[in-house]
This record gives sequence, C-alpha cells and structure tokens, in this order.
Amino acid sequence: MGENDTCLFRAEKICKSFGAVHALSDFDITIRAGEIRGLVGENGSGKSTFSSIVAGIQNCDSGKMYLEGKEYVPSGTMDAVNRGVSMVVQEQGTISRISVAANIFFGKETMFSRYGVLNVGKMNAEAAKALHAIGVDTIQSDRMIDQLTFEDRKLVELARALYTSPKIWIIDETTTALTVAGRELLYKLMQRVKDGGGAILFISHDIDEIMDKCDSLTVLRDGILTANLEKKEFQADKIRQLMIGRELSGHYYREDTEEALNPEVVLEARDVSAGVLSDISLQLHRGEILGVGGLSDCGMHTLGKVLFGLVKPEEGSVLTAGGEKVRSSSWAVDHGLGYVSKNRDQESMMMICSIKDNICLPSLKNIASRGLISGKKQRALADTWSKKMEVKANSIDTFCNTLSGGNKQKVVLAKWMGKGSDILILDCPTRGIDVGTKAAIYQLIEKLKNEGKSILLISEELQELIGMSDRIILLKDGRVSGEFLRKEELTEAKLIQKMI
Ligand SMILES: Nc1ncnc2c1ncn2[C@@H]1O[C@H](COP(=O)(O)OP(=O)(O)OP(=O)(O)O)[C@@H](O)[C@H]1O
Ligand SMILES: [Mg+2]
Repeated sequence: MGENDTCLFRAEKICKSFGAVHALSDFDITIRAGEIRGLVGENGSGKSTFSSIVAGIQNCDSGKMYLEGKEYVPSGTMDAVNRGVSMVVQEQGTISRISVAANIFFGKETMFSRYGVLNVGKMNAEAAKALHAIGVDTIQSDRMIDQLTFEDRKLVELARALYTSPKIWIIDETTTALTVAGRELLYKLMQRVKDGGGAILFISHDIDEIMDKCDSLTVLRDGILTANLEKKEFQADKIRQLMIGRELSGHYYREDTEEALNPEVVLEARDVSAGVLSDISLQLHRGEILGVGGLSDCGMHTLGKVLFGLVKPEEGSVLTAGGEKVRSSSWAVDHGLGYVSKNRDQESMMMICSIKDNICLPSLKNIASRGLISGKKQRALADTWSKKMEVKANSIDTFCNTLSGGNKQKVVLAKWMGKGSDILILDCPTRGIDVGTKAAIYQLIEKLKNEGKSILLISEELQELIGMSDRIILLKDGRVSGEFLRKEELTEAKLIQKMI
C-alpha cells in the first residue's frame, strides 16, 4: 500500500454496539500525516462514537487501531493524550466549578505539585502560556470556568487540546459553538498541527466548510463506511448523497420571495437594555419569521433570553400581544412562548431523562386532568413528535444523554412543536443537525409560519437567515444596526456590512 509511508493512524474493522444499536460496524479509516481528514455522516451515524474510541473515552467491541505503525489501545483519555491524541468534544468539554487553569491541566496536576501540594500560581501561569500559545489573551487563567461564555469555554478546550502538541487532533462539531473569530482561530490552529506533520480528524455538518478545509473525506452511514474521497473528488451534491443515501429532493429554504407583514404584533421589545444589549426595540408580527443576526458577541443570544423572560431587562420591557409584560420564563411558556437555547445541553434539555419526558415537559398541563398525568397521552405526544422530527433512537424511553448531538437537538425542537407554542424563539435551531433533517426543519418552520405562528430565528448562518426570514434585523455591539426585508435582493455581503 503506497499510502503506508505517510499513514499516521489507521483503524480496522472497528465495531461498537449499544444494546441493539450498531453505532459502528467494521469501520476502517486511514489518516495520513499532514492532512485534514473530514468525517461526515447523518446524525447518529457514529462519528462521535468513533472519535471517542480513538480518544480513549470508550473502548470498541472489536477491531484494531494503529498509531505510527504500532498497535494503539488507549487505556483512557490521559493515555491517549500522552500518546499524542487530543480531542475537542462535540458537547461542553470543560468541567464546571473549577478554574480555567485547572481545566487546561485536568489530570496533569502533578506537573505543578510537590509533596502533594499543588502550586496554583505556577499552574495559572502555565495556563496563561497555553492560552497565549493559541493566540488567546483575553481569558484569565485563574477565573472560574463557569464565569466564561459558552464560546470562551470552547477556546479553553482548544488550549487544553493543543498544549500537548498532538499528532492526531480530533475536532468534533466544534465550529458551530464558536464565534466567527473563534472559527478563524480554529482553522489557523488546524493548519499549525498539519504543518507540524500531525493530522486532524474534522467533523462538521457544514458541507461548504468541509470542502473548504479538508484534504480528504470519509463518509459514514449508519455506522458503515460509505466512501473515501480526495479533495479533487469533492462535490457538494455527491457528498450529501453519500451521507443520506438518496438525493436531497425538494427545496431547502423557503421558495417564496414576498413578505406580507401581518400588522398584528405578538411580541415586542421596547427600549430594552440588558447586558451587552442597549436600547433594543423590535416587534415580532403574527405569522412572521423574523431573523436576527450578527457576530456571535453582538448580543443576539442574550436577546433571545430576554424575550423569553429568562434574563430580566435592566431597562425597558418585553410585551406580548395584550400589552402584558413577560414576567418570567414560566409565565412565557403559559402564554404561548417557546425557546430553544444555543447552549442546548445546559439550558434546553434534561439529560438524564427520557425523550418522552423531555418532549412532554412543557405540555404537562395539557396532558393532565385533575392533577394526574395521562401516561397514554404522554406516549402519544412524544411518539408523534419524535417521529415528525425524525429522532433516531430505540424508543421514546431512551435517555437523552445517550443520543447523538443532532438527535438531542431534534428532541428540543420536538418539545416546543408538541406544545404548539404560538411564538417560538429559536436560537441556532439547526445547530449540529445534518443536511437531510435540516431541510425537514426548514419546511416545518415554514409550515408553522403558514399556520400563523411567529418565529424569531436567531442564527449565525447567514444563508439560513436569508433563506427563511421575512425580515432580518442585524445587531452590532448590542444595538440594532440594520434591517432588511425579504423582497430586497439579499446577499451575505449586504448583511455582513451591517454586522461589522
Ligand atoms: N452511550 C450510549 N448509549 C446508547 N446509545 C448510544 C450511546 N452513545 C451513542 N449511542 C448511539 O450510537 C449511535 C451513534 O451516535 P453518535 O453520537 O456516534 O452519532 P454522530 O454521528 O456523532 O451524530 P451527530 O451528528 O448527531 O453528532 C446513535 O444511534 C446513538 O444514539
Ligand atoms: Mg456527534
């Protein structure tokens, strides 16, 4: 095999099952030194499972792995790191209630201790160096990790992963958790590892990003290797088809170009200031898809929380149709609002509960009578919506912590769809969702609109905003910096102008 001289890592016939689910079946992959290899596949196709086996988080049932020609059997994550395999996980990978530095050196504390006493000052200083080495000087190493934003926590993970100069760096669906600046940084760091003779296994649902950044690509479908492609063979349609096993039929985004704003306002922010937001006024109309965009730190994520009553405005107010103030998130739910957070695992989902419990949570009042919850109604509701959202799981009793990232996201959407909320505040709703299901979600959003429901779509994907919104509001540094109507010929460039 000619590729052997550059082969850095190889896995052969990897199998992994969870009960009846075959997450990986006889999966083979070769990663060459100096390449960025993409790994793509639908939600639940086995990407994270494979990554976590390579990173020593879990064992495979059978199969062999080789690193630099030698058999590789990591006994745990620290062992994998010591042998040159680092990973940035799809979910939150930092540990709460300890400092930034303690996160970067978790499991390696002995580096800084003598006679069993940890030299915190030394560890903090080294952590600052680790952050500086990846070009991040804005995060203080002695801060508690919980005080950091979701995005900054990901940067800490990058610093941790790169501190050991990995030979193999696995990046599982990380770009969607980063700001635009964070993404650029990530790409630069990937290039650095590659230039140093290492390799990257890069997982993403963004086909454009994959085609742009990767040198080669491996496609998984239902745990089975479907194809290996070299860069010159990359073609978006072909990749999509290999992933989902059929051609994507029908349209992706909305096809109509007109926007007919219903004069009825269902939700309104009046002169709201909160955190980075200052003096925001906006109105969401009945049957409208109102897009909100901007750079990740522009305040759009806070805006979603303020509108849903999760964050109290310091000034100004949020009002519903009758002019009533949104008092709290539970008040909001009772008054027909639903909210999907960008920070799904922490804010939108009960992990150690079943799909059924998660879907039914906001609807409990609707499926109870005289204080008793009907188990039958509960199952019916969960069944209907997990099917509609194409949640891939053995049954609705499956615990959410065992679902793949994209399938968790589908459950969160299903719970508000099931509730039948009239106003949906969706913060990055298609984050981590594969191309096939994305189309289904866009069609669903359009259907909700046509039923007269109102959707506030907060998104970092400009194509998604342009494709779906009746109107787009852009934020910059916490203020409204521009507004566009659907009928205008919108381009990404036009939007970006108002964002930066
Ligand atoms: N601990 C577990 N217990 C039970 N099932 C699991 C567990 N971990 C993964 N699975 C199942 O294995 C399959 C593969 O999941 P995996 O997380 O690898 O998918 P993925 O390709 O990373 O998907 P996504 O794009 O949504 O992140 C899924 O059906 C998932 O539900
Ligand atoms: Mg995954």
